[in-house]
Amino acid sequence: MEAKTVQVKVKRFDPSKDKEPYYQTYEVPIEKGSTVLSVLRHIYDKLDHSLAFYYSCRIGKCVGCHVTVNGKTRLACNTIVDSDVTLEPQKGYKVVRDLVVDKSEKVGA
Ligand code: FES
Repeated sequence: MEAKTVQVKVKRFDPSKDKEPYYQTYEVPIEKGSTVLSVLRHIYDKLDHSLAFYYSCRIGKCVGCHVTVNGKTRLACNTIVDSDVTLEPQKGYKVVRDLVVDKSEKVGA
């Protein structure tokens, strides 16, 4: 199967050093069945060890890996990536860092 590369645009924010959130784009190889979580793990393992995201079970059970995928809340571990994608932290919660939110602290509507 021919390898395909997608652009993954990630909203980054580290409150300890960033004044404002910003977007960073990564080129990531995907294959059939690649998920948002596998893409994030590729970025972390091969491209940028500073990227923060959260997951636990990897099988859609713990519901701990919510992120905003192209504007919609999705589970990273069971959302397929087959084209360019924008990833942001789950809306409505305080951002701890990058895609990690504090689910004990709701903000906004
Ligand atoms: S890692 Fe548990 S639901 Fe995604």
